[in-house]
Amino acid sequence: EQNRRESLMIVSGYAAKFFHESLLDTDEGKSIGLSYFKERGFNNETIKKFELGYSPDQWEAFTGSALKQGYQEEFLVDSGLSVKRDNGNLYDRYRGRVMFPIHNFTGRVIAFGGRTLKTDKNVPKYVNSPESEIYHKSNVLYGLYFAKKAIRDEDNCYLVEGYADVLSVHQAGIENVVASSGTALTVEQVRLIGRLTKNITILYDGDPAGIKASLRGLDIILEEGLNVKVVLFPDGHDPDSYVQKFGTNAFKKHVDDNKKDFILFKTSILLKDAGNDPIRRAEIIRDVVESIAKIPDSIKASVFIRECSNILQIDERALMTELNKMRQAKA
Ligand code: UTP
Ligand code: MN
Ligand code: MN
Ligand code: MN
Ligand code: MN
Repeated sequence: EQNRRESLMIVSGYAAKFFHESLLDTDEGKSIGLSYFKERGFNNETIKKFELGYSPDQWEAFTGSALKQGYQEEFLVDSGLSVKRDNGNLYDRYRGRVMFPIHNFTGRVIAFGGRTLKTDKNVPKYVNSPESEIYHKSNVLYGLYFAKKAIRDEDNCYLVEGYADVLSVHQAGIENVVASSGTALTVEQVRLIGRLTKNITILYDGDPAGIKASLRGLDIILEEGLNVKVVLFPDGHDPDSYVQKFGTNAFKKHVDDNKKDFILFKTSILLKDAGNDPIRRAEIIRDVVESIAKIPDSIKASVFIRECSNILQIDERALMTELNKMRQAKA
């Protein structure tokens, strides 16, 4: 219902303000949260623009303040900001974490990600808002509100994995960047981008999980009829660590030098561990053609078939036959 959604957004907006002020105006926030963000290289402008915050390391700092302001328990709980104990009392979901508010397409705060400052492996690194009437995580891209103008202007969208990647890349002046934030890329997310541009460049982490996520993401993007390129970062790096360590120019150069269209990316990844084994190679060829079969535009698909035939040294007609078979099986 519209009123409930509005109430949830109002309390989320209040929370963003509370966490932001606690970051900038309290001793605990400054000495723990702000110094953490500074160490990671985020400047004041980024901290303000993205409304970064800090949740005090207490059980009821936020909840107590919100109740005192007159916010109703119902909305505190349903927004995920407070959690209800068995005895009915509320406590803060986010305690002692740096806070990343998640904005919707029009700039309203609808959810949060909170990062721990501990290095203890038993503590989850990020705690995220649960699903709610205003937050369906499969329909949201972190940073989209701040990126949409640049995505249109550049006619391209950089897709990264995490909050910090969005902040660092944006701060480096590359503002057409959004994150899928820990969920596997969804059709809904691709459609959101598709309203702004038909071109997506995946910049995922250079670890095995990032490579796997890139392969999955690429098929979803192709199926929606968008163009996709992929850039891998050296293992152990993500876009945030790379741009913070090597600077904006090196980052741009890395992206330019390593940008691969999806065929090149997929074949190079798959061939790496197949060697010359003919059976493995045949599987890879089928796998790549399967991706091509997802492209709705058949002219575009045939161009990729030709490229595939060149890279893999396979007869183009054999690939076309395979493609048509897959298309028919799908229809
Ligand atoms: P990463 O583990 O790559 O974290 O997860 P990161 O973004 O590089 O974080 P930093 O640099 O260590 O601060 C990528 C994204 O996956 C989601 C978050 O959105 C994160 O930004 N994630 C990760 C979670 O939701 N929960 C987790 O426990 C870990
Ligand atoms: Mn809904
Ligand atoms: Mn990773
Ligand atoms: Mn990171
Ligand atoms: Mn990462």
